[in-house]
Amino acid sequence: MSPDGSSEGSSGIDTRVKVQNLKKVFNPKSVAIVGASSEPGKVGYQVLNNVIKNGFKGKVYPINKKATEILGVPCFPTVSDCPTDVDFAVIAVPAPMVEGVLKECAQKNVKGVVIITSGFSEIGKKKEEQVLKDLADKHDMALLGPNTFGFVYTPSNLNASFGPQNVTPGKIAFISQSGALGISLMGWTMMEKIGLASVVSLGNKADIGEKELIEYFNDDPNVSVILIYMEGIKDGRQFMTTKIKKPVVMLKSGTSSRGAQAAASHTGSLSGSDKIYTAVFNQLGMMRARTFTQAFATACCLSMPEPKGEETIIITNGGGIGVSATDECENSGVKLLDDHVWLEERFRPTMPEFGSTKNPIDVTGGGGRAGYQKAVRVALTEERIHSVVVLYCETAVLDPVEVAKAVIDEYNAVKRNKPLVVTMVGGERSRQAIQILNENQIPAMTEVREAISGLKALYTWKEISSRPKEKTKTPEIPVKALEVIERVRKEGRTFLLEHESREALEACGVPMPKWGFATTADEAVKIAEKTQMYPVAMKIASVDIIHKSDVGGVILNIKNADEMRAKFNQMMETVKKNAPKAKLLGVNLCQMVDGLQCIVGMNKDPQFGPAVMFGLGGIFVEVLKDVSFRIVPFSENEAQRLVGEIKAKKLLDGYRGQGAHKESIIKTLMAIQKIAEHVKEVDINPLITNKDGSFAVDARIII
Ligand code: COA
Repeated sequence: MSPDGSSEGSSGIDTRVKVQNLKKVFNPKSVAIVGASSEPGKVGYQVLNNVIKNGFKGKVYPINKKATEILGVPCFPTVSDCPTDVDFAVIAVPAPMVEGVLKECAQKNVKGVVIITSGFSEIGKKKEEQVLKDLADKHDMALLGPNTFGFVYTPSNLNASFGPQNVTPGKIAFISQSGALGISLMGWTMMEKIGLASVVSLGNKADIGEKELIEYFNDDPNVSVILIYMEGIKDGRQFMTTKIKKPVVMLKSGTSSRGAQAAASHTGSLSGSDKIYTAVFNQLGMMRARTFTQAFATACCLSMPEPKGEETIIITNGGGIGVSATDECENSGVKLLDDHVWLEERFRPTMPEFGSTKNPIDVTGGGGRAGYQKAVRVALTEERIHSVVVLYCETAVLDPVEVAKAVIDEYNAVKRNKPLVVTMVGGERSRQAIQILNENQIPAMTEVREAISGLKALYTWKEISSRPKEKTKTPEIPVKALEVIERVRKEGRTFLLEHESREALEACGVPMPKWGFATTADEAVKIAEKTQMYPVAMKIASVDIIHKSDVGGVILNIKNADEMRAKFNQMMETVKKNAPKAKLLGVNLCQMVDGLQCIVGMNKDPQFGPAVMFGLGGIFVEVLKDVSFRIVPFSENEAQRLVGEIKAKKLLDGYRGQGAHKESIIKTLMAIQKIAEHVKEVDINPLITNKDGSFAVDARIII
């Protein structure tokens, strides 16, 4: 799934060793807390207190130069003085002391450290941070931080943080780039009773980042879903090599378009960091959430068993909430079971006469706990039903806690055999019911939308995890294309003329319409006749002219030889008059093509490198910015997903006689990758597609 399968980071260190050593961090036999203090207000006190109070079973060594014991635990002046090996150390001493402590840890052969201390790259002290990273690399230490609040790992009862205690144990690993948000969301999950296997604060990511943690949790049986709050990536190319084995939910903030402003081309102005991040997540098979409640709801749903098929049932006691769930299912592509006769037969016995057996199954307010219980039992035991949504609106006649208990009993009775999500709307009692459900690992929330999008994520993950594993490599540039680029470079130009762009792209395999380059009217006629090019579009070729139509340098629909001669001469005269200083090299000729206008482009993202764009042209690109990206290199399957991702994709499938030639679009997207490393930007605008093929009608390359 990763582009090149390599595990080497930007520093040249094999990150697999670090990933291995994270085992010592999360499952240590012994922990040293350097900077442990007896003063309750201090971070070192809080960390030690959290380690002790959460029931960690390994050895704990507070390190303090003066104290002999803190919180009843014997202290040691340095890590070297600890009586046994130390697997992992928390460092909470002032910044100037950190390097010395890290050296001591290295001498003691400590393989994992968390540096809580602030005052490094986040305040510009990059060199000081690099020293720590170099030390960690030299000794194969996995280093988390600096500037982190630490982590919690519930399977080993280890709370090596100065965050709250008593995290609800569960299967979600939550990785946060923001310390403050991490701590507060930890508190929120405790209130909602959402279970976590781990909470990790990334801090400055001097060494361990998202990639290493994902790859560690990939193989951790205590984790079933990884949720990441991310602000930005340090090393985009390295991140692209992340291997995904478990569902990853991404909550990404900081969606500015600074990158887009820096880029001059059409593609550049459409990219912007957010679209690129979406491309990156899609390409790696990660799922994106837009709010933290949605992110956690999705992560909880992804802890459910995989659905065996697509048929979903909604059980409700209220029509309104049932309708909104139906809307959400339709919008997000969750399929509802639709066989009314079968549903009537199965569900009628579960409800009063006035209930509805159409999906949503409405047991009504009169159904009571027994009604819910019976309906849920049918939904869970019928093999034809593959996933279940239970909705509840609080009423005076039925206690939501009773509904929750009924759902839990039925779900446990069938050994959690299929996905089941719950939405409860109401007051205090409903909230309590939601907490009880969450505590029992049944995803429950107050928003219908979150329940359905969570369920949809399960289907998305099912599709992602069934994709063939592909190793992709950037394809080589053909010699002919490279020669064209080198020729232009030698001339000191930064852009290719249209015919040069065509030559280079054609050599890469981009499908072209019939085209030619002529310096005289006779030559133009000869080319058009020989290739049967009519009707023809003629465009002036000059390094001095950027906006050709402004100076009369574009004439369309030339139908025959006479017209060709006349229009050639007319164009030369007009352009000379309008741009007297421009050196005219000749004209580009291109067969007129009808069809759906698309846009294909490539530009360099500062983080992730060459990114290829695809979208529909015209209003779709100008107004709606309906384009998607992929990072080079990507496979043919990935190119297909890129094409299927745009909102106007139905037009590509054929609408009012228009349709697209998808194979040749994919071919174009594959071909453009060959040139990506060698130039700055490519714009094929438009790429016209019709039932016979796709054609790069205009092409521009900047080097
Ligand atoms: N070996 C052992 N103990 C040492 C030591 C060393 N080399 N250097 C200092 N200590 C001891 C101190 O004596 C002190 O213990 P004491 O209270 O018994 O005297 C303890 O370590 C802490 O040192 P102190 O100088 O009191 O620092 P502090 O507790 O005020 O601050 C940090 C230390 C790390 C908390 C602080 O520098 C910091 O970075 N705070 C920000 C943390 C943060 O917000 N992180 C990011 C979260 S998202």
